[in-house]
Amino acid sequence: MRKKIVAGNWKMNNDLGQTEELLSKLLKKMPDTEAEVMVAPAFTNLRVAFDTLSQSPVEVIAQNMHFAENGAYTGEVSAEMLKSVGIQTVILGHSERRAYFNETDETLAKKVDTALQHDMTIVFCFGEELEDRKAGKHFDLVESQLKKALFHLKASAWKSIVLAYEPVWAIGTGETASPEQAQEMHKFIRETIASNYSEKVADGVSILYGGSVKPDNAKEIFSQPDVDGGLIGGASLKAKDFISIIEAVQ
Ligand code: G3P
Repeated sequence: MRKKIVAGNWKMNNDLGQTEELLSKLLKKMPDTEAEVMVAPAFTNLRVAFDTLSQSPVEVIAQNMHFAENGAYTGEVSAEMLKSVGIQTVILGHSERRAYFNETDETLAKKVDTALQHDMTIVFCFGEELEDRKAGKHFDLVESQLKKALFHLKASAWKSIVLAYEPVWAIGTGETASPEQAQEMHKFIRETIASNYSEKVADGVSILYGGSVKPDNAKEIFSQPDVDGGLIGGASLKAKDFISIIEAVQ
Protein backbone atom coordinates (compact mmCIF):
# COMPACT_ATOMS: atom_id res chain seq x y z
CA MET A 1 0.00 0.00 0.00
CA ARG A 2 1.52 3.33 -1.03
CA LYS A 3 1.90 6.15 1.48
CA LYS A 4 -0.51 9.05 1.88
CA ILE A 5 1.49 12.25 2.28
CA VAL A 6 0.70 15.91 3.00
CA ALA A 7 3.72 18.19 2.65
CA GLY A 8 3.84 21.94 3.27
CA ASN A 9 6.21 23.86 1.00
CA TRP A 10 6.80 27.11 2.85
CA LYS A 11 8.89 28.57 0.01
CA MET A 12 10.65 31.83 0.96
CA ASN A 13 8.45 32.59 3.96
CA ASN A 14 8.89 32.79 7.77
CA ASP A 15 11.90 34.10 9.63
CA LEU A 16 13.12 32.29 12.77
CA GLY A 17 10.44 33.67 15.07
CA GLN A 18 7.63 33.07 12.58
CA THR A 19 8.89 29.53 12.03
CA GLU A 20 8.83 28.78 15.75
CA GLU A 21 5.36 30.30 16.06
CA LEU A 22 3.89 28.30 13.16
CA LEU A 23 5.50 25.04 14.31
CA SER A 24 4.16 25.59 17.83
CA LYS A 25 0.62 26.03 16.46
CA LEU A 26 0.97 22.94 14.28
CA LEU A 27 2.22 20.81 17.18
CA LYS A 28 -0.73 21.90 19.33
CA LYS A 29 -3.32 20.97 16.69
CA MET A 30 -1.71 18.03 14.82
CA PRO A 31 -4.44 15.40 14.33
CA ASP A 32 -3.97 11.64 14.44
CA THR A 33 -3.61 10.66 10.81
CA GLU A 34 -2.53 7.76 8.61
CA ALA A 35 -0.86 10.31 6.37
CA GLU A 36 2.81 11.19 6.57
CA VAL A 37 3.11 14.92 7.28
CA MET A 38 6.09 16.99 6.12
CA VAL A 39 7.02 20.66 6.31
CA ALA A 40 9.68 22.38 4.16
CA PRO A 41 10.99 25.57 5.82
CA ALA A 42 13.71 27.73 4.29
CA PHE A 43 17.29 26.54 4.75
CA THR A 44 17.96 28.98 7.61
CA ASN A 45 15.17 27.40 9.67
CA LEU A 46 15.80 23.71 9.01
CA ARG A 47 17.71 23.00 12.20
CA VAL A 48 15.30 24.77 14.54
CA ALA A 49 12.42 23.01 12.81
CA PHE A 50 14.16 19.65 13.07
CA ASP A 51 14.79 20.17 16.81
CA THR A 52 11.25 21.49 17.45
CA LEU A 53 9.60 18.56 15.67
CA SER A 54 12.04 15.83 16.73
CA GLN A 55 9.51 14.20 19.07
CA SER A 56 6.58 14.60 16.67
CA PRO A 57 5.56 12.52 13.61
CA VAL A 58 6.08 15.54 11.35
CA GLU A 59 9.14 15.30 9.08
CA VAL A 60 11.19 18.37 8.20
CA ILE A 61 12.30 18.40 4.56
CA ALA A 62 14.38 20.73 2.36
CA GLN A 63 13.12 22.75 -0.61
CA ASN A 64 16.16 22.14 -2.80
CA MET A 65 19.80 21.07 -2.93
CA HIS A 66 22.75 21.16 -5.33
CA PHE A 67 24.03 18.09 -7.17
CA ALA A 68 27.70 18.69 -6.27
CA GLU A 69 29.24 17.21 -3.10
CA ASN A 70 30.84 20.59 -2.26
CA GLY A 71 32.84 23.42 -3.89
CA ALA A 72 32.58 26.80 -5.56
CA TYR A 73 28.78 27.07 -5.72
CA THR A 74 28.07 30.28 -3.81
CA GLY A 75 24.68 30.27 -2.15
CA GLU A 76 24.06 26.57 -2.69
CA VAL A 77 23.55 23.72 -0.18
CA SER A 78 24.72 20.11 -0.53
CA ALA A 79 23.12 16.80 0.40
CA GLU A 80 25.63 16.25 3.20
CA MET A 81 24.91 19.68 4.65
CA LEU A 82 21.19 18.84 4.73
CA LYS A 83 21.80 15.46 6.32
CA SER A 84 24.10 17.04 8.90
CA VAL A 85 21.09 18.96 10.27
CA GLY A 86 18.85 15.89 10.23
CA ILE A 87 17.17 16.29 6.83
CA GLN A 88 16.46 13.04 4.94
CA THR A 89 14.03 14.26 2.28
CA VAL A 90 14.35 16.98 -0.35
CA ILE A 91 11.97 18.62 -2.83
CA LEU A 92 13.49 18.76 -6.34
CA GLY A 93 12.25 20.23 -9.60
CA HIS A 94 9.75 22.73 -8.26
CA SER A 95 8.41 24.87 -11.10
CA GLU A 96 9.75 28.00 -9.43
CA ARG A 97 13.27 26.48 -9.49
CA ARG A 98 12.79 25.58 -13.15
CA ALA A 99 11.44 29.03 -14.07
CA TYR A 100 13.53 31.41 -11.98
CA PHE A 101 16.76 29.41 -11.64
CA ASN A 102 16.81 27.69 -15.01
CA GLU A 103 16.81 24.17 -13.65
CA THR A 104 16.56 21.75 -16.58
CA ASP A 105 15.44 18.14 -16.62
CA GLU A 106 19.11 17.19 -17.12
CA THR A 107 20.23 19.20 -14.05
CA LEU A 108 17.42 17.62 -12.07
CA ALA A 109 18.53 14.13 -13.10
CA LYS A 110 21.92 14.92 -11.54
CA LYS A 111 20.28 16.22 -8.35
CA VAL A 112 18.14 13.08 -8.14
CA ASP A 113 21.24 10.89 -8.49
CA THR A 114 23.09 12.81 -5.77
CA ALA A 115 20.15 12.63 -3.37
CA LEU A 116 19.85 8.87 -3.93
CA GLN A 117 23.61 8.41 -3.45
CA HIS A 118 23.06 9.99 -0.02
CA ASP A 119 20.09 7.69 0.74
CA MET A 120 17.67 10.60 0.68
CA THR A 121 14.00 10.55 -0.29
CA ILE A 122 13.00 12.88 -3.12
CA VAL A 123 9.73 14.74 -3.60
CA PHE A 124 10.01 15.31 -7.35
CA CYS A 125 7.91 18.15 -8.80
CA PHE A 126 6.78 18.50 -12.39
CA GLY A 127 3.80 19.80 -14.34
CA GLU A 128 2.69 21.64 -17.42
CA GLU A 129 2.22 25.32 -18.24
CA LEU A 130 -1.23 26.57 -19.22
CA GLU A 131 -0.22 26.88 -22.88
CA ASP A 132 0.86 23.23 -22.91
CA ARG A 133 -2.59 22.22 -21.67
CA LYS A 134 -4.41 24.54 -24.06
CA ALA A 135 -2.42 22.99 -26.93
CA GLY A 136 -3.26 19.48 -25.71
CA LYS A 137 0.43 18.82 -25.04
CA HIS A 138 0.24 18.42 -21.25
CA PHE A 139 0.57 14.65 -21.30
CA ASP A 140 3.58 14.77 -23.64
CA LEU A 141 5.25 17.44 -21.47
CA VAL A 142 4.72 15.55 -18.22
CA GLU A 143 5.96 12.28 -19.77
CA SER A 144 9.06 14.09 -21.05
CA GLN A 145 9.82 15.59 -17.62
CA LEU A 146 9.54 12.18 -15.96
CA LYS A 147 11.59 10.37 -18.59
CA LYS A 148 14.45 12.90 -18.68
CA ALA A 149 14.86 13.22 -14.91
CA LEU A 150 13.78 9.85 -13.50
CA PHE A 151 13.54 7.04 -16.03
CA HIS A 152 17.26 6.33 -15.93
CA LEU A 153 16.75 5.00 -12.40
CA LYS A 154 16.66 1.31 -11.50
CA ALA A 155 13.28 0.00 -10.34
CA SER A 156 14.63 -0.36 -6.79
CA ALA A 157 15.35 3.38 -6.60
CA TRP A 158 11.65 4.22 -6.84
CA LYS A 159 11.12 3.31 -3.19
CA SER A 160 12.86 6.67 -2.51
CA ILE A 161 10.78 8.71 -4.96
CA VAL A 162 7.59 10.64 -4.19
CA LEU A 163 6.05 12.41 -7.19
CA ALA A 164 4.31 15.80 -6.99
CA TYR A 165 2.28 16.77 -10.03
CA GLU A 166 1.90 20.54 -9.91
CA PRO A 167 0.28 22.14 -12.96
CA VAL A 168 2.08 25.48 -13.12
CA TRP A 169 -1.15 27.32 -13.94
CA ALA A 170 -2.60 26.19 -10.60
CA ILE A 171 0.34 27.21 -8.38
CA GLY A 172 -0.42 30.24 -6.26
CA THR A 173 -3.28 31.25 -8.56
CA GLY A 174 -6.33 29.95 -6.74
CA GLU A 175 -7.09 28.17 -10.05
CA THR A 176 -7.05 24.58 -8.78
CA ALA A 177 -7.12 21.63 -11.15
CA SER A 178 -10.50 19.92 -10.89
CA PRO A 179 -10.52 16.54 -9.15
CA GLU A 180 -11.18 15.00 -12.57
CA GLN A 181 -8.21 16.81 -14.15
CA ALA A 182 -5.97 15.74 -11.26
CA GLN A 183 -7.12 12.11 -11.45
CA GLU A 184 -6.73 12.01 -15.24
CA MET A 185 -3.11 13.17 -15.07
CA HIS A 186 -2.23 11.06 -12.00
CA LYS A 187 -3.62 7.97 -13.75
CA PHE A 188 -1.57 8.82 -16.85
CA ILE A 189 1.56 9.24 -14.70
CA ARG A 190 1.02 5.89 -13.01
CA GLU A 191 0.40 4.16 -16.35
CA THR A 192 3.54 5.75 -17.79
CA ILE A 193 5.60 4.40 -14.88
CA ALA A 194 3.98 0.98 -15.25
CA SER A 195 4.84 0.80 -18.95
CA ASN A 196 8.44 1.88 -18.35
CA TYR A 197 8.95 -0.26 -15.24
CA SER A 198 6.17 -2.50 -13.89
CA GLU A 199 2.72 -2.39 -12.28
CA LYS A 200 4.43 -3.14 -8.97
CA VAL A 201 6.69 -0.07 -9.18
CA ALA A 202 3.82 2.12 -10.42
CA ASP A 203 1.44 1.02 -7.68
CA GLY A 204 4.03 1.72 -5.00
CA VAL A 205 4.73 5.34 -5.93
CA SER A 206 2.91 8.08 -4.00
CA ILE A 207 1.74 10.77 -6.42
CA LEU A 208 0.86 14.06 -4.72
CA TYR A 209 -1.15 16.87 -6.26
CA GLY A 210 -0.03 20.49 -5.79
CA GLY A 211 -1.57 23.76 -6.97
CA SER A 212 -3.99 25.83 -4.90
CA VAL A 213 -5.03 23.05 -2.55
CA LYS A 214 -7.22 24.59 0.15
CA PRO A 215 -9.38 23.27 3.01
CA ASP A 216 -12.50 23.48 0.84
CA ASN A 217 -11.15 21.47 -2.10
CA ALA A 218 -8.68 19.06 -0.47
CA LYS A 219 -11.09 16.26 0.38
CA GLU A 220 -12.45 15.88 -3.17
CA ILE A 221 -9.01 16.01 -4.74
CA PHE A 222 -7.49 13.59 -2.22
CA SER A 223 -10.40 11.15 -2.67
CA GLN A 224 -9.34 10.45 -6.27
CA PRO A 225 -7.95 6.89 -6.66
CA ASP A 226 -4.55 7.96 -8.00
CA VAL A 227 -4.08 11.01 -5.78
CA ASP A 228 -2.05 10.10 -2.69
CA GLY A 229 -2.03 13.47 -0.94
CA GLY A 230 -0.80 16.96 -1.63
CA LEU A 231 2.11 19.37 -1.80
CA ILE A 232 0.72 22.55 -0.28
CA GLY A 233 2.04 26.08 -0.67
CA GLY A 234 0.11 29.07 0.61
CA ALA A 235 -2.32 27.11 2.76
CA SER A 236 0.57 25.44 4.64
CA LEU A 237 1.56 28.81 6.07
CA LYS A 238 -1.68 28.97 8.09
CA ALA A 239 -1.79 26.33 10.83
CA LYS A 240 -5.59 26.05 10.78
CA ASP A 241 -5.74 25.56 7.01
CA PHE A 242 -2.84 23.11 6.91
CA ILE A 243 -4.40 21.03 9.70
CA SER A 244 -7.74 21.00 7.81
CA ILE A 245 -5.96 19.77 4.69
CA ILE A 246 -4.20 17.03 6.67
CA GLU A 247 -7.58 15.98 8.08
CA ALA A 248 -8.91 15.73 4.50
CA VAL A 249 -6.67 12.75 3.75
CA GLN A 250 -8.71 9.54 4.10
O1 G3P B 1 4.96 23.23 -3.90
C1 G3P B 1 3.61 23.51 -3.66
C2 G3P B 1 3.22 24.80 -4.27
O2 G3P B 1 3.83 25.02 -5.48
C3 G3P B 1 1.71 24.95 -4.39
O3 G3P B 1 1.47 26.27 -4.05
O4 G3P B 1 0.18 28.10 -2.99
O5 G3P B 1 -0.74 26.87 -5.01
O6 G3P B 1 -0.62 25.73 -2.77
P1 G3P B 1 -0.02 26.77 -3.69
